[in-house]
This record gives sequence, structure tokens and C-alpha cells, in this order.
Amino acid sequence: MRVGFLTSGGDCQALNATMRGVAKSLYKMYDDMEIIGFEDGYRGLIYADYRILKPSDFSGILTKGGTILGTSRQPYKLMRVPDENGLDKVEAMKNTYRKLKLECLVILGGNGSQKTANLLSKEGLNIISLPKTIDNDLYGTDLTFGFHSALEIATNAIDCIHTTAASHGRVFIIEIMGHKVGWLPLYAGMAGGADIILIPEIPYDIDVVIRALKERTREGKSFSIIAVAEGAISQEDASLSKNELKKKKETGMQYPSVAYEIGAKITERTGQEVRVTVPGHMQRGGEPCAYDRVFSTRLGAAAAELIREKKYGYMVCWKNYETQYVPLAEIANKLKTVDPNSLIVKQAKMVGISFGDE
Ligand code: F6P
Repeated sequence: MRVGFLTSGGDCQALNATMRGVAKSLYKMYDDMEIIGFEDGYRGLIYADYRILKPSDFSGILTKGGTILGTSRQPYKLMRVPDENGLDKVEAMKNTYRKLKLECLVILGGNGSQKTANLLSKEGLNIISLPKTIDNDLYGTDLTFGFHSALEIATNAIDCIHTTAASHGRVFIIEIMGHKVGWLPLYAGMAGGADIILIPEIPYDIDVVIRALKERTREGKSFSIIAVAEGAISQEDASLSKNELKKKKETGMQYPSVAYEIGAKITERTGQEVRVTVPGHMQRGGEPCAYDRVFSTRLGAAAAELIREKKYGYMVCWKNYETQYVPLAEIANKLKTVDPNSLIVKQAKMVGISFGDE
């Protein structure tokens, strides 16, 4: 009984914890279990770069961040494009799988990786996938592993900024990861007591942001905290076509990132002192939080259960506080975004958080 593992896309804290959950369950289920680990995600599957893992490889990794297998970004849109030597990547992956006589392949990944997992499943390989990403934007699951660990770090960053912001009476902007979706900035912003949260799903009006800052000054508050998603966008920019926006960015003022752009606009219009903090990849680093350790262990065990039942072509997911599974074909190509009209956004607004939209 031989099963392949690979971790794909951007890493996160609980990849090892999840693999450990699958592996420990499988070793208990099958006496002849052999696990093959592919190096650096789909790259290892394409180029048959792998190693045989032993039970001892999965010991002591529950709390270890990163991934013992390494990972890489292999864009889904390039999967059908031959590599620089003319190699057909999809055929190469199928060949590796067949040559190794794998019973199935366990794929830990985010959005792009799930699309490739679905492609391989449609090509006839037995696939089980697991929902990884700090962005929590995978469709078909209420939660992804990595999200809570990243949330702890992003919240801690806001907490640290809070004390210095209060001492100096400044406006602080903390840029939180999330290019297309704002779950992490939304949760970290709420957990850290941010006054303003700007996420891609709710384009902001800089005048509204400034009004919210002035309102705080009128209330006698000497400082303000703004949690900004990497992909926060103004209403003006959101109304442009992709091409128009690209042109505007190329010809307009260049900023290192969106937080700096918003900071410059605030200073320009209010004269207020603004500081920007970008925790960046710290948010994906370090050890998984306690919640993720339990969550990942449960997801891993659920994946092993699917293998025992030979139920392939599914992603293990989290629904109503239990592990479940959802067909890959149902979730590939979809994003789980923050609904601007959701209760969480309404409740955040009720306590006075501005989203820069009204
Ligand atoms: O998808 C996870 C994520 O950390 C996003 O939040 C972030 O926008 C992106 O990856 C960063 O990608 P990279 O590590 O390739 O710079």
C-alpha cells in the first residue's frame, strides 16, 4: 500500500501537523503502508523528485512550522504549457504516479493547488486534498488550516503597534496578508481592536477613511489603528477595468504597497503623522497555534479515513464544526470571499469599526 504526499503553494504553519495526522492514521490502519514524499510540491511529482518517508519522519513535527517536504508555486495556468525542455507536465505527473504504483496522492494546498488536484483527479488519478492557506479563502470549507496560526501573529502585530501608537498619538497602518480576500485582516483587525479595516471585498473611499479618523480625533482619541489587506482597493480603482488599473499603476506614483499609498493620502489630506508596519511573511512562519494543531490532526485523520474507504476525488473540509468532504470538482476555481453584507461585517460596524465605505 503506497501513498504519495505533497505540499504545494505558499507554506503555512500547520502543513507538518496535517501530514502527521494523515501518516499516523495510515500507519495504524495498514501494516504495509509506505509513504512517498514529493519534494517542493508538484515540481517533485513532475520531475519524479521524491523520497520514501519513514514513520520517524512524522515524529516531532506537530509543532514544527514550514513543510518537511518543501513547497513551490507551480501555477495552474501553466500546467498545460510544456516546460523549457518541451516536457508535458500533466503526462509527467501521471507517469510518476503510475511508475510508483501509488494507491493515491494526498495534496495539501490552497486555491491554485486545488485546481491542479482536480485536474489530476479528472485525469484518472486517485486524489485526496486538504485545505491549506492562511487566507481562509478556499471554497467548500468553513476553515482552512494555517488561518488561526497566522491570525495569532497578525493580531499580535496589531497589539504591539497599539501600545506605541497610543504613546505617540499617531495613525498606524498595519498591512495584513490577503491579496484577493480579507478574512485575515478582518479577523486580525477585530481581534486587535482596529478602528478601520480595509479589505478587497469592500472598496474604500479615502474621504470616508479620513472622516472616520477625524471623528476619532473629535472624540478625544489621540491615535488610530488601520488594518489594511494587501489587496485593499479604493472605490475609484475598483471601478476601472483591469487594463485601465494596470496603466494607472504604471504611470502614477509608485508605492511599495497599498498601506504606503493610503498612508501618503492620509498625511497629504490631514497633515497627520502616519506610520506603516508590514508583518509580511512572518504571518506564515513559526509554529502552529493550538487550534490548528487539533484542527490539522483531525483533518489528517479524516483524509486517512477516506483512503481506507477508497473515496477519491475529494477535499477534506470543515463544516458545522466537523470534518466532512466535498468533491474537488465542486470547489476548484471558486473563492470564498467575505460577504460585505455578512453578520460579521455588520457586527464589526456596530461597534464602530469603519470599512471606509459609508
Ligand atoms: O496565499 C498565502 C499568501 O501568504 C497570501 O496571503 C499572500 O498574498 C501570498 O501568499 C504571498 O505569496 P508569496 O509567498 O509567493 O510572496
